[in-house]
Amino acid sequence: MQEKGFSEEKILKILQKRLCKDQKYSSGKILASMCTNPLEISKKTYSIALEKNLGDEFLFPGSSNLEKEVISMLGVLLSNSHAAGHIVSGGTEANITALWVAKKQCNNRKNEVIIPISAHYSFERAADILGLKLVEVPLTNEFKIDISEVENEINRQTLAIIGIAGSTLLGTVDDIPKLSDISLENDVFLHVDAAFGGFVIPFLKDLGLYEGVFDFEAPGVKSITIDPHKMGLCPIPAGGILFRDTSFLSIINRSVDYIGLGKVNLTTLQGTRPAAPSIAVWTAMKSLGRSGYRSIVKKCIENTAILYEELKKLDRTQVIIKPTMNIIGFTCSGVDDKLVVDKLLKKGWILSLCQTCIRILVMPHTEAKHLKEFVSDLNDVLLSIK
Ligand SMILES: Cc1ncc(COP(=O)(O)O)c(C=O)c1O
Repeated sequence: MQEKGFSEEKILKILQKRLCKDQKYSSGKILASMCTNPLEISKKTYSIALEKNLGDEFLFPGSSNLEKEVISMLGVLLSNSHAAGHIVSGGTEANITALWVAKKQCNNRKNEVIIPISAHYSFERAADILGLKLVEVPLTNEFKIDISEVENEINRQTLAIIGIAGSTLLGTVDDIPKLSDISLENDVFLHVDAAFGGFVIPFLKDLGLYEGVFDFEAPGVKSITIDPHKMGLCPIPAGGILFRDTSFLSIINRSVDYIGLGKVNLTTLQGTRPAAPSIAVWTAMKSLGRSGYRSIVKKCIENTAILYEELKKLDRTQVIIKPTMNIIGFTCSGVDDKLVVDKLLKKGWILSLCQTCIRILVMPHTEAKHLKEFVSDLNDVLLSIK
């Protein structure tokens, strides 16, 4: 740090220069992000709440009540008006919290967690921190967890099963009702990672585009990750962890004597934590309502269908699977996917280059015209590579 402080003018000038290197969602060229532009009104309410600390509900009871209302709204979205939980920093913290509760609930007697190979790497982090062993099971040809493999792997050491509702790579949804049956039969904790899908699937169901059960409607589901900072159009950081009822939060409760005359109980990993994300999520949900989210998801799905059809028309691209939500994976034949991604990057397109495919997220900031322009550039790139 320099000795003498800079003026506001100077700071803003430096920041403007430094931050102009960052990409902007409004370009339409970011096809690799699970986050998007937050709603304007959520940005506004976020910025008026910067000093508020949800780790101290004695000082900030208004904020604390708003967080509770957000959890209740998310609970209803996930078929459970009694759900309890918190707005956390993201899907990673939510997944760690779920396994932390699962581990403590069985008094550390069991340590194996069955996960599909499609699970997000945050479970690796969770296992590392909590001293758990991940037992990875393969997927079916629909890219969903193989239920018979789960049954094979269940044993007396099995602490938890993870089901994914909207996989990171392809947006597929595991058979949660079957996992629920297995978890109840074997007295195993079932966590559903709907970090991405949580703000998509309920609206697909409203639109008649998805029929399965993926949430607390399945009786074995004990916890769900749902991230407002992905398809919830909220500012980062805003993840969500919901449990079936408050008893799960009690497991990690810690009363703290130096806050609120010794009356504050904390049920989060973080101590001091921002209220602004909860306030911004409350704002987004109140502002859009169910119909607002439904229209946004409808648009994303329609645009995904456009991209899917356009990709199918190209000779040298193969779509991995018909998309369930607004994520598409594809590969190119006779050419290295990396070369294609690199050439498209030179044209400004930002894609995810994954081990098995190129992945595209059709987010609210992506419009049909961007996708048509992208496919035209992709076609040119493929023609340029013999
Ligand atoms: C299914 C899933 N779970 C969890 C996460 C982790 O979320 P975050 O990056 O907010 O920690 C992601 C992120 O992509 C995800 O796709």
